[in-house]
Amino acid sequence: MPRIAKLYFRTAIIFLIIGISMGLNMAISQDHSAIGAHAHANLLGWVTMAIFGGYHALNPAKAERRIAMIQYCVYTAGVALMVPALYLMLTGNPAMEPVVAIASLITFAGVLLFAVIIFSSEAATRPAVTAH
Ligand code: HEM
Ligand code: HEM
Repeated sequence: MPRIAKLYFRTAIIFLIIGISMGLNMAISQDHSAIGAHAHANLLGWVTMAIFGGYHALNPAKAERRIAMIQYCVYTAGVALMVPALYLMLTGNPAMEPVVAIASLITFAGVLLFAVIIFSSEAATRPAVTAH
């Protein structure tokens, strides 16, 4: 498996652990105010990151490009900032709202970079075919 795919799955499982912990905490405390942080940790973290990782595993040539690592860093930074800031905002810290807004835009930038990866041609990274 390409390095970036492994990295995405390792990051994704951490977000699933965090997301499920928040879900269990909500269920046990019967206070569901952190629902948005729980939903987005699981969906932007576990689900979307696993899809990104799966895409790279299926496209190993694209996984080796520099934009793949840049995209990973931007997207992961966005989600890693968004989830705790959203959790704090929803559990009584409205001052976190601008942080959530900035983190959402960073996450969106990561998604746009992934669109560039998806639409880019695979041929550009294929090793040149030489005649023997
Ligand atoms: C043991 C694991 C989990 C527990 C205990 C749990 C618990 C909860 C709880 C208590 C709520 C609030 C329900 C409400 O107020 O209506 C919730 C909502 C939600 N959960 Fe989980 N959850 C778990 C796993 C997951 C996973 C793995 C995902 C996604 C991959 C997920 C996605 C969601 C979503 C999207 C919502 C919001 C649903 C809505 O808007 O009505 N949950 N969860
Ligand atoms: C930067 C990206 C995203 C932003 C800024 C965003 C923003 C929001 C907002 C403002 C809400 C309404 C919350 C409320 O009513 O309290 C929401 C709900 C929801 N979003 Fe997102 N979203 C994003 C990405 C996603 C993605 C990628 C998924 C699924 C893969 C998703 C799934 C959901 C679900 C299931 C809900 C309903 C659960 C809840 O009430 O929190 N979102 N989102």
